Parts: sequence; C-alpha cells; structure tokens
Amino acid sequence: MAESHLSPQRSAQGSVAEGFAFPVTVALTGASGAQYGLRLIEALVAANHEVWVMISKAAHLVIATETDVKLPAQPERLTDALSSRSGARPGQIRCFAREDWMAPVASGSGAPSAMVVCPCSTGSLSAIACGASNNLIERAADVALKERRTLVLVPRETPFSAIHLEHMLSLTRMGAVILPAAPGFYHQPASIDDLIDFIVARILNQLGIEHRLMPRWGESPASDGREGI
Ligand SMILES: Cc1cc2nc3c(=O)[nH]c(=O)nc-3n(C[C@H](O)[C@H](O)[C@H](O)COP(=O)(O)O)c2cc1C
Repeated sequence: MAESHLSPQRSAQGSVAEGFAFPVTVALTGASGAQYGLRLIEALVAANHEVWVMISKAAHLVIATETDVKLPAQPERLTDALSSRSGARPGQIRCFAREDWMAPVASGSGAPSAMVVCPCSTGSLSAIACGASNNLIERAADVALKERRTLVLVPRETPFSAIHLEHMLSLTRMGAVILPAAPGFYHQPASIDDLIDFIVARILNQLGIEHRLMPRWGESPASDGREGI
C-alpha cells in the first residue's frame, strides 16, 4: 500500500474543529452491513475524532431494512440524529449531501481526512476504481486516492465476480486498503455485536486509532471491550 500522508500526528494538526482528533470521513453505501458503519461512527466519536459522514440513498434503504435505526436524509437533521445516538459533542459530526461539492472532502485543498467506505457496495467500489466521481462519496474517495491519503474500503458481496475482484486489485495497487466485511471467529464471538466489533477494530487499526474493542493478537482479552472503546 502507498504510504499514507495522513499520519495521526500530522492529521491532528489538520483538524478543522478545535479540540477533536483528526477528521475521519465515513461513507455508508448500499451494501448489506450498515451496522458496521454505524458502529464505526460511534467508535470514532468515543475516540474523540471529528467525523464527516455521507450516506448514499441505497444505504438509507439498507439501514431501514437491516436495523431499527431511523435516520433522516437531510444533512442537518442527519447530523443531529447521528450526534444524539453516538453521544457526539457539538461540531463533532458533520454530514454532507450527495452533491455538496463545497464540502471539505470534495477537493484536495480541503482539510485532509482519512476515509472509510463502510459498507462499500460493489457499485461504489466500481465507481471509485474508475474515478467516476458522480456523487460526493465517489469524489471524496477520488480525492483520497489522488492525495495519497488513507482510504479503507469495506466491500460486502458474495460471491465476488471477476469485475469486483479486478476492481479490488486495482484499488489495492492505487494504495487503498480493501478490508472485506468478513469477521473472524477465533475470538469466539458471543453475539452479533462481537462480529461487528471485529471489523470495526480492524478499521480502527488501519487508521492508527487506539481502541479496546478487541485485544490485538498476542494480547490478553480486556474484561469488556464494548464498554471501553
Ligand atoms: C437490502 C439491500 C441489500 C443490499 N446488499 C448489497 C450487498 O451486500 N452488496 C452490494 O454490493 N450491493 C447490495 N445491494 C445493492 C446496492 O444497494 C445497489 O447496487 C446500489 O445501487 C448501491 O448504490 P450506492 O453504492 O450508491 O450506495 C443491496 C441493496 C439492498 C436494498
């Protein structure tokens, strides 16, 4: 993978809002596994990061299908809803609309952020691999690639076609991290939450963000990881 230009130390200086650690952009697209993205937002808030959120139209449908979470589409109301469910401080979460080309993520001259597309549909995967930039999620990922910033994609589909696999290979070669929503079972998960946290912990590891969701390999288990992110 290409070296990230967004080390936590440098990013902290580039943070837009005072008092928060570096911004992380989280885009939820319409693959199954909305819970991974929602839990990631909670974990980033708990870790005191500024969180910039984009949710595609299809992702709203998946969230309504897979969860009991009710989220409005309008960005200001979405910001309020996500802030309230994650306990975010004022200004910690900012949500952007599908075509908000003035958002900081829309240009390389905007404040740098790491970006995670979680979950990542095969449609968005394809658009990002091809540089389509037809909406703000695709454009933000394009910016992350061209600026050599951290970009983590969490695809979920099964089985994968040659098209999906070729896009994943080309994105890996461009410096993105492909982190499939494929939780392991060696930590003996007792619940779906444990499976979700397995993936969210891996994403936080990629971002260089400390957490206690799961012990790292070779460490002894914490008493209750979900209590202390
Ligand atoms: C309930 C539901 C589950 C879906 N699951 C997946 C999936 O796991 N993977 C995938 O790539 N697409 C899945 N799709 C299809 C995508 O949502 C669809 O291709 C959409 O155009 C993606 O748009 P987006 O990338 O802009 O969010 C699902 C759709 C729905 C409604």
